[in-house]
Amino acid sequence: MFPIHRPRRLRQHPVLRDLVRETALTVNDLILPLFVRPGRGIKKEIASMPGNFQLSVDRLVDEVGAAVDLGIKAFLFFGIPSHKDADGSSAWAEDGIVQQALRALRPAFPKILLITDECFCEYTDHGHCGIISEHQGRPDVDNDLTLPNLARQCVSHARAGADVVAPSGMMDGMVRAIRSGLDEAGFTTLPIMSYSAKYASGFYGPFRDAAESPPQFGDRSTYQMDPANGDEALREVALDIEEGADIVMVKPAMAYLDIIRRVKDRFQLPVAAYNVSGEFAMVKAAAQKGWIDEKRIALEILTSIKRAGADMILTYFAPDAAKWLK
Ligand code: PBG
Repeated sequence: MFPIHRPRRLRQHPVLRDLVRETALTVNDLILPLFVRPGRGIKKEIASMPGNFQLSVDRLVDEVGAAVDLGIKAFLFFGIPSHKDADGSSAWAEDGIVQQALRALRPAFPKILLITDECFCEYTDHGHCGIISEHQGRPDVDNDLTLPNLARQCVSHARAGADVVAPSGMMDGMVRAIRSGLDEAGFTTLPIMSYSAKYASGFYGPFRDAAESPPQFGDRSTYQMDPANGDEALREVALDIEEGADIVMVKPAMAYLDIIRRVKDRFQLPVAAYNVSGEFAMVKAAAQKGWIDEKRIALEILTSIKRAGADMILTYFAPDAAKWLK
């Protein structure tokens, strides 16, 4: 017997394939992360992230301009400060590196969306995402001491021109602390994109070189999530929503597509996914060796992340993808 149902019928004509395509990736879905550092005229390539740079503010403005010309409208900023200390105090300094970047970018590009990563690992001399104190004889990030500093950092970025704040430190209660800090400072309509389900992942390797933020002792397993856990991600997301998150994020993306889908199905909030440095580096490295077709693979990955349920994707592929999608 021949089959009655032939899924292949819908694959015969290219126009029909376009009509039945379920997921359309566009440049509007993409957010480009960028790294800003002190100095002038600095554009230092990050070895493990080809095409990505540590940029001084002047060069950052050029880089954003080039991305805007490609159609990219949303950016996420990480700062590499000149001064690190135990508390990460330069994170909320009036003339902090991200604050300087925002003040230069805001008037230059009034229409783009400026998102700031809110965390302390780049700002602390120990490389952890908050203040350290002893817990049962072991040094660990002190959750509750870190919260007020996070609020200060966010308010400082908001004053400098940030449109959205994105706390990535995985502290309990961070969204609530930031929401009340922003509200008290008058930023009641400024949204919070929370890194709600952020895993303790090996995929952040290249980023830690880029941001000069590796932990000087231990690892991040007391605050970031165990890659083996799925239900726990839903609990984390539920808490962030209760605390006032406007957008929830799953990070990394590729190895966590199941989590993206579960979050999307369970909650009625926009979902962001972070296609992180290691995911980017693997594709670049294999492409440089000629082992894979970079354009095809990168677009397939980004489309898969969107198909899994992400409404927006933070990705170092944004400039390439913007060109390919034109
Ligand atoms: C923490 C932060 C990290 C990333 C984004 N925010 C690193 C970490 O948690 O160690 C990783 C991003 C990437 O790998 O692309 N501020």
